[in-house]
Amino acid sequence: MKRNERVLSAIQPTGDIHLGNYFGAIQNWVRLQDQYECIYGIVDYHAMTTPYKPDTLRANTWKMAFQLLACGIRPEHLFIQSMVPEHTELAWILGCVASYGEATRMTQFKDKAEQLRQSDKSAFISVGLFTYPVLQAADILIYKAHLVPVGKDQEQHLEFTRNIAVRFNHQFHSDYFPLPEPLFTETPKIKSLADPTRKMSKSLGEKHYLSILESPDIIRKRIRSAVTDTQPNPESISPGVENLFTLLRATGQEGIYSELLNQYRSGTLRYVDLKEAVAEALIKLLTPIRERYAEILANKKYYKNLIKDSSADIRNIAAQTLREVKDICGLLHAARTVKATDQNP
Ligand code: AMP
Ligand code: TRP
Repeated sequence: MKRNERVLSAIQPTGDIHLGNYFGAIQNWVRLQDQYECIYGIVDYHAMTTPYKPDTLRANTWKMAFQLLACGIRPEHLFIQSMVPEHTELAWILGCVASYGEATRMTQFKDKAEQLRQSDKSAFISVGLFTYPVLQAADILIYKAHLVPVGKDQEQHLEFTRNIAVRFNHQFHSDYFPLPEPLFTETPKIKSLADPTRKMSKSLGEKHYLSILESPDIIRKRIRSAVTDTQPNPESISPGVENLFTLLRATGQEGIYSELLNQYRSGTLRYVDLKEAVAEALIKLLTPIRERYAEILANKKYYKNLIKDSSADIRNIAAQTLREVKDICGLLHAARTVKATDQNP
């Protein structure tokens, strides 16, 4: 039985989904579909907040959509943010009830601005990067979402969203927006294969991550060269070995996981065997995803239309909220929508 609460989450179109994204977020999104009413967004407006190329953004947005479908996200739950432009209009309205002081305390803005400055001293920092969390609040509130599955790094943005909702409700004497709660599901944190003291991330470079679409050969090669240790110490497991165990468990191979962990504890484990087990478990899990992805690519047009349709359906929810919000705020409505020919690539 599905519960009535609505779940909303979103991901930036970063290109490849890597094992960190998959085990840390997407696998959980897939499971939540059977428990709640779920809406998942690919947030391309957010991806404009740091320097980017238009063709890459367009290609990555579709790639992310196809990968999510291949992972098991159902098309009716998925939308592309720029196909629901009401998000940006609501973001403006929410920006007028959001606290400037609070916005200046967002750590993700500080971190990302710092990263940009480190790569280039005269880096351009956009207003969009600063107001990013206001757009994120709009993503959540436009669907009156109750639950938002996010990692701990997004907790501050969710608190900001709640404060915006509280201030809106208070300012306009309403209880219009429900206050969204974070949904912290226990998900594994995956570390880089080449430097297991850092979290797996594409920005570290190729040796550090594995994409879910990778071929069996590359999976074996990358896992074989994953960092372990030279002096196993059952008292305190090294980050690299721990990461391999985390990966093995995340693939659902509980039996092999326990067996190898016992070997590790008794000092008889050979790391080649652990690596072999991790590689084979990943190949088993990812092969159907890679095959589904190939099937989707072969029928690209059909799947693009599916996502355009689901985005249009989800847009109806967003448009209704925006109408109500404009009424509450004293804004006016246009007489009719302007017709445009569909030239969406
Ligand atoms: P990002 O594009 O890095 O912001 O990641 C998108 C989602 O994947 C977020 O919800 C993160 O919590 C999750 N994620 C990213 N990297 C990892 C990782 N190494 N381990 C676990 N989860 C991750
Ligand atoms: N900021 C989120 C991230 O970096 C992505 C995101 C945008 C999001 N809008 C959202 C997440 C709404 C949850 C809800 O991962």
